[in-house]
Amino acid sequence: MTVFEMQKEIERLKREKDVCILAHTYQSQAVTEIADFTGDSFALATQATKAPQKSVIMCGVRFMAETVKILSPEKKVYLSAPRAGCPMAEQLSVEEVLAEKKKYPDCAVVAYVNTTAELKAVCDVCVTSSSAVRIVKSLPQKEILFVPDCNLGAYVAEKCPEKTVHLMRGCCPVHAAVKREELLKAKALHPDAAVLVHPECKKEVIELADCVGSTKEIIDYAKASEKREFIVGTEISVCEHLSFDCPDKRFYQLSKGLICADMKLTSLSDVYHLLKCGGEEVELDGALVEKARKCIDKMLTYGK
Ligand code: 13P
Ligand code: SF4
Repeated sequence: MTVFEMQKEIERLKREKDVCILAHTYQSQAVTEIADFTGDSFALATQATKAPQKSVIMCGVRFMAETVKILSPEKKVYLSAPRAGCPMAEQLSVEEVLAEKKKYPDCAVVAYVNTTAELKAVCDVCVTSSSAVRIVKSLPQKEILFVPDCNLGAYVAEKCPEKTVHLMRGCCPVHAAVKREELLKAKALHPDAAVLVHPECKKEVIELADCVGSTKEIIDYAKASEKREFIVGTEISVCEHLSFDCPDKRFYQLSKGLICADMKLTSLSDVYHLLKCGGEEVELDGALVEKARKCIDKMLTYGK
């Protein structure tokens, strides 16, 4: 079967079986083309509450499928590649966060959405990269314990000087690996290019950027900009999608290492076989869903 034939068959099967396909922007072009909705983490979580279908296939990583299940426990939820996890989501345990929280009894515990359902259940509110600054600003607490991403946390702290932000440890191994020297080299090679980076990158990289934003914010910025050239400091798929969408503009990938191996576990044939033959459902304990949901609901309310 060709890619085109497989995509046609997926379109037919998802209608026949009443399945909604959600895909994170870090998925390949072939996968995003068969999705009902593509977006960043915040947009996917919002969309998950709106999809009328009885089943959802999440093309992304496990915490994203768990978020869909938490928001719509009545739906059957499948992860396109069951092994796809986000390494950052596993970096802090519930016990470690609870012990740290004791040091700041009046703080709000803010969890990046890239966390396990268990961790969300003991936090006050979730945030995504596009909503973190907005949500932290709107919280009544002055003191914030931000987990787990120290780079996003430091970015939030800088944008919210009125808050005291405590960090622990944790980062995205993909974005945190980008070096300032790589960016300086890219800027020297492409002096007219605008620099777009994700806030999961280190401060030394972020401070050289023209736009710091989530995957969606980066894409929107590049599309709206009058500039013709862009250095893109986020996962490699964003450059791929932008090159398809804006053939008259040039996009330069900041670092060859910006590939999320987990996001790349999904192939078009995984989605096809899941639709045709079924697969393992994402299951979460009912009490856990209830606790974790409060945290995500607050994110959807404050983050609009
Ligand atoms: P966004 O989808 O918020 O841009 O986050 C990127 C990411 O790393 C997802 O895991
Ligand atoms: Fe996790 Fe980083 Fe991959 Fe996003 S890009 S899923 S934060 S490892």
